[in-house]
Amino acid sequence: EKAGCESFMLKEIHEQADAVAETIADRVADRDRIDLGDLGAIDDAFLRAARRVVVVACGTSYHAGLIGRYAIERWARVPVEMDIASEYRYRDPVVGPGDLVIGISQSGETADTLAAMRLARARGAKVLAIVNVMGSQATRDADGVLFTRAGLEIGVAATKTFVAQVAAMYLLALRLAELRGTLEPARLSELIGELKLIPHRIAALLERGDAEIRAIAARHRDARFFLYLGRHVGLPVALEGALKLKEISYSATDAYAAGEMKHGPIALLDEATPVVCVATDAPVLYKLISNVQEVRARGAHVIAVATEGNGEIGAHADDVIRVPATDWMLAPLLAIVPLQLLAYHVARLRGLDVDQPRNLAKTVTVE
Ligand code: M6R
Repeated sequence: EKAGCESFMLKEIHEQADAVAETIADRVADRDRIDLGDLGAIDDAFLRAARRVVVVACGTSYHAGLIGRYAIERWARVPVEMDIASEYRYRDPVVGPGDLVIGISQSGETADTLAAMRLARARGAKVLAIVNVMGSQATRDADGVLFTRAGLEIGVAATKTFVAQVAAMYLLALRLAELRGTLEPARLSELIGELKLIPHRIAALLERGDAEIRAIAARHRDARFFLYLGRHVGLPVALEGALKLKEISYSATDAYAAGEMKHGPIALLDEATPVVCVATDAPVLYKLISNVQEVRARGAHVIAVATEGNGEIGAHADDVIRVPATDWMLAPLLAIVPLQLLAYHVARLRGLDVDQPRNLAKTVTVE
């Protein structure tokens, strides 16, 4: 049931505070430690000693993995390798005992992700599935399961399951850091405290309404191409925002690391190009701002997602969409929300079916 919403996708966007709250719930009940429950064969001794993490996934789940990579490397100091599952399974990967392989999948039935997980397991790695659907195939193929608790997602474009996956990756990163002693206890509890506040911040963001985003969407409803830029944890947000727009509005999009602009994509820009920048507070924000200045110098129209209270970005963007302040590493959980809504409104203004976009299936069970 759409519960009075005009689409499942909009309803699911509005369920994101709950999706994160449910996913973290008992796992952060104690502010000083993370409790992931029973991960089967993936016990504390293994998590303490694992030499490497490898993440395999497809689509939106892959983008959640990318955010997890920054968190695991930064907080737990464990090297993380990432790959698209359809590539990983055919590249004869170097993987084996001592590796923790994480398969991320909303459905738990994506053929390529399952194949990548099975391959890694056959070679001696321990495989953790981060999955939303109980009883799905991935839960049977893994050594351990960490469930996201987003509830049933019907819209083909993943929204609430994405924020739940990102939250699950943060939990895992913090647990690894706790076990390996790579974060000061005070910093660990500070991060846990901030994570616990994320559902309130998502709710506050959504309560503001989306008139402003709708107006931005209306200005660009006929744009044939949108460029998305970000740096560090803002980059996967840009990738995911671009995927959402592509999937439901059928606009061409490209998402790039802002630092790569000069290496090619800047040639695409003209006065008609909307450039969406994920510009939330971060140590690399000043670098991103200089990339944004280059974009603007080409006359492109800059739409920035920025942190409330940041006074700098306004001078460099045509439109600024504000998200609440949080620890900068956790900002993706907030910054993705306006980008989902932007994609949503562009698609609706074009009269498209956001829940059932053409050519797409919710679950890709064939390779
Ligand atoms: O069920 P999974 O998370 O394994 O699905 C992976 C992708 O097929 C999925 O994320 C797809 O990209 C969505 N349509 C994104 O909105």
